[in-house]
Amino acid sequence: MDKLIVEGGHLLKGSVNISGSKNASLPILAAALLTDDPVRISRVPDVSDTNYMLQILSQLGASVERSSGTVRIDSPDGISSSASYEQVRKMRASICLLGPMMARMNRCTLPLPGGCVIGDRPVDLHVRAIQALGARVRVKGGNLVIEAPNGLVGATVDMRGDNGPTVLGTDNLMMAAVLARGTTVIESAAREPEVVDLANFLNKMGAHIEGAGSRTITIHGVERLHGCQHTVIPDRIEAGTFMVAGALISEGITINRVCQEHLTALADLLVECGHTVRFSEDGSSVFVAPGTSPKGGKITTSPYPGFPTDMQAQMTALFSVTPGISVVRDTIFPQRFMHCSELKRMGANIKMDNGTAIITGTDRLSGAPVMASDLRASAALVLAALAAEGTTEIHRLYHIDRGYEMLDDKLLGLGAYVRRVPDPKEPAAQAI
Ligand code: EPZ
Repeated sequence: MDKLIVEGGHLLKGSVNISGSKNASLPILAAALLTDDPVRISRVPDVSDTNYMLQILSQLGASVERSSGTVRIDSPDGISSSASYEQVRKMRASICLLGPMMARMNRCTLPLPGGCVIGDRPVDLHVRAIQALGARVRVKGGNLVIEAPNGLVGATVDMRGDNGPTVLGTDNLMMAAVLARGTTVIESAAREPEVVDLANFLNKMGAHIEGAGSRTITIHGVERLHGCQHTVIPDRIEAGTFMVAGALISEGITINRVCQEHLTALADLLVECGHTVRFSEDGSSVFVAPGTSPKGGKITTSPYPGFPTDMQAQMTALFSVTPGISVVRDTIFPQRFMHCSELKRMGANIKMDNGTAIITGTDRLSGAPVMASDLRASAALVLAALAAEGTTEIHRLYHIDRGYEMLDDKLLGLGAYVRRVPDPKEPAAQAI
């Protein structure tokens, strides 16, 4: 495995291009199973999570070709209805195969995703959704065994859970409903841009979906879907991560290939904290620079369009060196604070109080060997390392490689002093 060696204190400058969205790509790749026509999907980032999904699709019997950022998927009749534990255990998001497999084959066997470092990853809402369309669900040998011998029938389903809407749960229900008999109405639907991107992809395949992006999505079932070409939306979390880098340690950087409307909550917070954020006329790029007298802020994560849970760790790294007190609470993944203990090893002053992180800004962090734990916590450690005094070694870089395409190259392009080197002492990649 690799580790990243970062020499901190060097101001970033110049510009960086953002890749296609990992979280839009995953359900869209799974949705390719909904037709036996070929589909072409562009700007699929070359990261472990999308590659795991492509491996699972080919293990199911689909043919998969990738040439640079474009993926062609062909899933002929006769594809398998069961995914192996070996493959699925590598990525919990493979739960989003449930909807397309049920729509296509009316049965599927999917290993249950376990928990992970950001907290328990329940699937009760996914089960509620597919049962509402008439499927029978059993748990057998760690697998979800789901059957709908009479096919799926549209229904009205309220998808709200204790922690709000579910992104992949909404995706699964949409994908299960597109070929169901009759109409499905999703109440309390997730509104994330990645859900809208999936709905746009499905409509290009001939589905009939209305209301994606609002809390109520209506899907009129159709007989069959056909192939199409689609380009996934920019990765708003990668863009946000670089925006935080711009506010933290730069002469001002420009981030290209973004979508302004997906970045409002973060942009507003950075401005509120005194930083410079300027979008281009068409909203496709943004200039970010550190404020002259920045101040701390308060984050309570919430479903889109609220402040994203996937950005709170990165902001915690920025708050660690911002004068004043900052407060971070995550209502979606309440335990998602693995990064705090590692940031404290770099000198951050963070106290946990009943699920809330209280951060008192210090002048500088100091470099140290740290351990990546989950995708966004690792990004927070990279940001902290860029601003820290001295050298930081970030171990278990595979966490970063799950969701950030060529992060080290992009940072080098911005003038950062980073080096990816083999880490012989580290174990092989762990399932997350
Ligand atoms: C998606 O995960 C994203 N992953 C996550 O990004 C993101 O953090 C999350 O949405 C929230 O925005 C992908 O899109 C691949 P949820 P998802 O179902 O859909 C609870 C990253 O860093 N819940 O919206 O799996 C759940 O425990 C990743 O890129 C149930 O209770 O998340 C959580 O508290 C990490 N029952 C809340 O809902 C269920 O059946 C929201 O989870 C499902 C979820």
